[in-house]
Amino acid sequence: MSELTNVSVIGAGTMGSGIAHVFALGGYDVNLVDSSKDSLEKALSSIKNNLGKQVKKETITAEESDNSLARIRFETNIGSVDNSQLVIEAVYEKKEVKEKILKELDSLCPRETVLATNTSSISISELALVTNRSDKVIGMHFFNPVPVMQLVEIIKGRSTSGETFLFIKSVVERLGKIPVEVNDSPGFISNRLLMPMINEAVFALMENVSSAEDIDQVMKLGMKHPMGPLALADFIGLDVCLNIMEVLQEGFNNDKYSPCPLLQKKVAAGELGRKTGVGFYDYS
Ligand SMILES: NC(=O)c1ccc[n+]([C@@H]2O[C@H](COP(=O)([O-])OP(=O)(O)OC[C@H]3O[C@@H](n4cnc5c(N)ncnc54)[C@H](O)[C@@H]3O)[C@@H](O)[C@H]2O)c1
Repeated sequence: MSELTNVSVIGAGTMGSGIAHVFALGGYDVNLVDSSKDSLEKALSSIKNNLGKQVKKETITAEESDNSLARIRFETNIGSVDNSQLVIEAVYEKKEVKEKILKELDSLCPRETVLATNTSSISISELALVTNRSDKVIGMHFFNPVPVMQLVEIIKGRSTSGETFLFIKSVVERLGKIPVEVNDSPGFISNRLLMPMINEAVFALMENVSSAEDIDQVMKLGMKHPMGPLALADFIGLDVCLNIMEVLQEGFNNDKYSPCPLLQKKVAAGELGRKTGVGFYDYS
């Protein structure tokens, strides 16, 4: 595979902006694409803000911060992906939305371009089917906040080639992150374990077993979790949590993964957590 110099990221939300940040800081030219101008503007200000925090902590210099920002192109036109050797999709956790993007990317990108998806739970093998390059489709699951979290789950679909896996593994390592190899299965490892715990915490809240603060306190003080499950759900986005539970329920065909009605209610009301200012907690 040719040397990686240019990376495109599709979707400039919570994850896409963080992924663009770490690639730019790693010295790559980044093309950050979103259909919403508003998302691109928010991404610019959040990347600036997060790079600023790193400068303050003296983990990077002001010059590195400026150079990183200068390496990111903010684009609404998906056609701008055509000279990227790697494209990472980070749009909504909806299979049909991701399939549409991957199909489009497959027609726009040179044959050697690797198409990675930051999906939290959807089958890589199934997503790959909409392309004509299933050997070059792979899961690259970053964690939030991307500039801080070290782990990246690398998920091999049924047809992902060994060459594609090794390429992505080396890219992840060059970003200073730690890859874990995972076979394709709903929710992979992280969300198969994490989301049922979050969902159960929402059930406990709905059934008035305790307050949100106290449910979180139990997991923080009793299990040494850095953040309680409800605060974490707000941080991830309640819509993302709901979508993942639906993928687990459908993927395993098992109702033990049924999303809690309170989670569904919150999402329907637009209370998505930090990104909308209210979730299980109020951030306004
Ligand atoms: N939030 C998390 O903690 C987290 C962690 C790991 C993985 N993920 C996964 O990352 C992906 C993105 O999640 P997020 O939290 O960043 O979502 P988000 O809602 O913050 O951002 C999604 C972005 O995609 C854009 N978008 C939607 N359709 C598009 C299209 N057709 N073309 C271009 N842009 C489009 C939206 O405008 C939005 O800016 C999901 O698959 C999610 O499951 C999320």
